[in-house]
Amino acid sequence: MNSIKMSFDHFGSPEVVTVGEEELPPPGEGEVQVGVRSIAVNPVDWKLVAGYLEPYFPLQLPGVPGCEAAGTVTAVGPGVTGFGVGDEVIWNGVAGGYRAVANVPAAQLTPKPAGIDFEQASCMAIAGGAAYSALVQLGVGLGDTVLVHGSAGGVGSASVQIARDLGIRVIGTASEPNHDYLRGLGAEPVAYGEGLADRVRSLGSITAVVDTFGGEEATAVIVALLGGHGAAVTTVPGKESNAAGIAPVRLLDGRVADAARLAAEGKLRFNIHERLPLTDAVRALGISRAGHIRGKIVLVP
Ligand SMILES: NC(=O)c1ccc[n+]([C@@H]2O[C@H](COP(=O)([O-])OP(=O)(O)OC[C@H]3O[C@@H](n4cnc5c(N)ncnc54)[C@H](OP(=O)(O)O)[C@@H]3O)[C@@H](O)[C@H]2O)c1
Repeated sequence: MNSIKMSFDHFGSPEVVTVGEEELPPPGEGEVQVGVRSIAVNPVDWKLVAGYLEPYFPLQLPGVPGCEAAGTVTAVGPGVTGFGVGDEVIWNGVAGGYRAVANVPAAQLTPKPAGIDFEQASCMAIAGGAAYSALVQLGVGLGDTVLVHGSAGGVGSASVQIARDLGIRVIGTASEPNHDYLRGLGAEPVAYGEGLADRVRSLGSITAVVDTFGGEEATAVIVALLGGHGAAVTTVPGKESNAAGIAPVRLLDGRVADAARLAAEGKLRFNIHERLPLTDAVRALGISRAGHIRGKIVLVP
């Protein structure tokens, strides 16, 4: 069967990604074929296209970006149990997701709860899963005050919602245009940038941090605010955070199902920053790379 895919044959900026067609074989041993209904765009997609992930996940070119999607099972390969044609599923891998139809290992699928649509389901694995894992790793609960750095983005906005559902007070950093959005999620917004530690202190003491931005400012502020008391995790580990002993997020098994369950219970919902056709993937990657996303960008095949 012929189907659309977005691929690149050399590393570079988003413009290296082009539209193509592929002849998809039937799913192989252990694989399931998914008719994709929605694909969520993540910063890791443009990092993959740029070649930044080569030290960790060497890619055979031509490559296809995309690490999470949701759709319906259209065929099942030999040896697959637990999934059948017509099942609604969430897929999570490293690459290969910018496709209208995809053959994926059954082991990378999670059943989609009936209570959420494909668009929301496609956002659960990476942002939802990382936020859920970060909060479990911190071990926070009622009585805690958590600083979420970069709180309007995918991971940040999910962290805010999951924490608020646990009764946690949340202070969130964002640029000014996102402050009302954060208030709507139940967080107390502060602007990032110079003087951040003082602005947070003026709101009260924090007991833990979810950092989704990384780098020098985040590390310095975390050290200044926690001063060795309280825990911090980051989704963007680097030399500064490592030197300061800030833990990288540890992604939990079952996180996709846990995030999707919270969404089905009405506790987690992503704002859709942009909804674009799959063939506009270059534009979507460019917007993601510019770094000011409120919620998620999704691609529709
Ligand atoms: N390790 C993992 O498993 C894992 C999983 C998921 C994500 N990640 C990584 O985590 C990071 C965040 O991912 P995401 O999907 O949440 O990204 P995103 O949706 O693109 O959000 C980025 C956010 O960063 C904020 N921001 C921009 N400049 C900032 C600054 N100087 N200080 C603080 N915040 C700033 C933006 O807020 P404003 O618009 O308000 O400026 C934006 O909302 C990415 O680097 C991603 O690759 C890692």
